[in-house]
Amino acid sequence: MTATAGGVAANPLRKGLAANRIADPCNVIFFGATGDLMKRMLLPAMWNLRLEDMLPSNYGIVGFSRSDDDDEKFREEMRKAVDEFSRSGPAKEPLWSDFAKHLSYVSGTFDDTNCFHKLRAQLEKNDKELGTGGNRLFYLSTPPSLFAPIVDQLDKGGLGPRDNQTGWTRIIVEKPFGTDLDSARALQAEVSKVFDEKQIYRIDHYLGKEPVQDIMALRFANVIFEPLWNRRYVDSVQITAAETVGVEQRGGYYDNAGALRDMIQNHVMNLLALVAMEPPVAADADSIRDEKFKVLRAIRPIDRARVTLESARGQYDAGSIAGKPVPGYREEPNVRPDSNTETFAAVKLLIDNWRWAGVPFYLRSGKRLAHKTSEIAITFRSIPHRLFGDAGDALDNNVLVMKIQPEEGISLRFNAKVPGPKMHIRAVSMDFNYGTGFGVVSAPAYERLIGDAMRGDATLFTRWDAVETAWQIVMPILDKWQNTIDESFSNYSAGGQGPPSSDRLLAMDGREWRKI
Ligand code: BG6
Repeated sequence: MTATAGGVAANPLRKGLAANRIADPCNVIFFGATGDLMKRMLLPAMWNLRLEDMLPSNYGIVGFSRSDDDDEKFREEMRKAVDEFSRSGPAKEPLWSDFAKHLSYVSGTFDDTNCFHKLRAQLEKNDKELGTGGNRLFYLSTPPSLFAPIVDQLDKGGLGPRDNQTGWTRIIVEKPFGTDLDSARALQAEVSKVFDEKQIYRIDHYLGKEPVQDIMALRFANVIFEPLWNRRYVDSVQITAAETVGVEQRGGYYDNAGALRDMIQNHVMNLLALVAMEPPVAADADSIRDEKFKVLRAIRPIDRARVTLESARGQYDAGSIAGKPVPGYREEPNVRPDSNTETFAAVKLLIDNWRWAGVPFYLRSGKRLAHKTSEIAITFRSIPHRLFGDAGDALDNNVLVMKIQPEEGISLRFNAKVPGPKMHIRAVSMDFNYGTGFGVVSAPAYERLIGDAMRGDATLFTRWDAVETAWQIVMPILDKWQNTIDESFSNYSAGGQGPPSSDRLLAMDGREWRKI
């Protein structure tokens, strides 16, 4: 929960912060409005934006879905969702009743233009009754196969930007944007028939996480890190996005996706881009996204013949998480009993530019690992000459860790003298934690991102050129993995560190993964 006014005043680090810019009046229209993401994340995000006074005074929230609901039923469902999932606890009166007046529902199928005419009528009604000024933010939170058909229907139903003479029209597209390079290009071709790039907001919720945004602040609001941020001082970089959850109820989707598509191509690649990009010329959306694109372009393509040497895949077997037994991936609902889908992926990438030549970036992500941890660890080179310490004193390399979740902070590992008459050296850590430091708990990523899209700030959304390049990078691995059965599956136990092949990937370079 964000700090109360008292908390802000009490914390000197938050004094004098400018108020947030409020968005224009607008309607936010959610496709897939009765789905899981809507209930768990999207509607609670809208509610909390309201609680934080971050919504414009004139707003409408319209749900569109196949279910045969009406406004009242939708409002009830959304209230239940807030009661169950909102970070601010159950809905409070009288605020909820006022918020509920801004909620409406259109029931319709995605292939029937008449339903989009109905939606248009609802939006025009909101413009008159709620003063939403003709501004529209569409949010595609449906299965990806519906993205292109919905965009087409928006156009046919007179809801595209070209038909909107009174206000702006934007669209947020959930991930995955395509399932491979060709399908991503095909989707882009369809979406861009109706929307310009500046109106398309491809969401990657990782970019809305506070510590991810802080990567840029750490690098470009300080003088001490950037001089070291290059091949002369950095030995290697590890980016980890480890989860303890399995595929839960999403076996049907996941079994056709796998860890490389689900996490590496988007979330992890975005982290890499932020950590490795050059300083942008300005802090605006395009200057930052230009640099992210440039660094992705500099990643050395993986030779198909070297996929096995430069990547590792795994699939979890039964095991235990936090002391509780959990089933193997192939026993999960809606997963094929002989599935060849990876639930763990690790990749070694090299960036061919002046800053990073020769520095390996090791990326990994997996489900059912020992702990939930997302972090970026920069390991610096070893000292050029050893002066102190007995032979028995290990002189560890310095490591800077940007902790993304569940801990949010920065930790610097360095060597220090052990107090006493002898010159013994031990590695110690200097830790900063956002929560205790600033006295706030970060808002969930979706709040930040929906708020940004309403304000027209695309900085934290992925531009098409980056999406396309990220697909190009993973395609050789994807092709190989799809076309060869991994006979070692299942090859790691739930609750472990991933498959042995992942350890070998680093061992070949004389390195080790950080423990998850
Ligand atoms: C989603 C993936 O994009 O990110 C999920 O589809 C994954 O499979 C999730 O569990 C992880 O997000 P977070 O915020 O929990 O790290």
